[in-house]
Amino acid sequence: MSVYLFIIAMLLLPIGLAGLSLAPWVPTSRADFARINTHLKLKNGSVFYELGSGDGRVCRYIAKHNPQANVVGIELALPMYLIAVIQQKISPLKNLSYVHGNALTYNLSDADAIYTYALINTINEKLTPKFLKELTPGTRVISYQFGIKNWQGKQQVDRSGKSNTCLYVYEV
Ligand SMILES: C[S@@+](CC[C@H](N)C(=O)[O-])C[C@H]1O[C@@H](n2cnc3c(N)ncnc32)[C@H](O)[C@@H]1O
Repeated sequence: MSVYLFIIAMLLLPIGLAGLSLAPWVPTSRADFARINTHLKLKNGSVFYELGSGDGRVCRYIAKHNPQANVVGIELALPMYLIAVIQQKISPLKNLSYVHGNALTYNLSDADAIYTYALINTINEKLTPKFLKELTPGTRVISYQFGIKNWQGKQQVDRSGKSNTCLYVYEV
């Protein structure tokens, strides 16, 4: 019994620790995938990153709907990363890959579009300075549920989804 408890604790620990970085694992509602995809405006050869890709559900949707774009999910929690990778092994998509690592230290300078579902403080204190330092003009950033304070570039708030969750859409 204690062995099982130990295994469960070892699986949950990395998920809990990752939750202290960007956000704990809470998935984006599938009802919002289509409007996220519309706002990303991916083109031929576009590079898309999801910061904190969880089980990979958003990345898979984006990769399927944009076969011409390069989709990369970055996930810190090993169990979540492995779920996404196993799904990719079972049903591979050529334009999709995952990185097991910290999105806060990953170089995003080649990004054309970014999606994240992170907590408001994390976005404003950790992600926004990184976006401003690394992203090139024209890069689109979409944040689910939480907005960026004092953004200077173009911005739009989409409240059109059935889930009532705001999508915050920014352009560098
Ligand atoms: C709110 S969940 C969103 C999951 C997924 N993006 C979705 O919308 O379904 C946040 C995810 O970010 C991951 N995470 C937290 N901190 C991270 C970091 N520094 N780098 C990469 N992933 C991180 C968590 O493990 C979790 O899977």
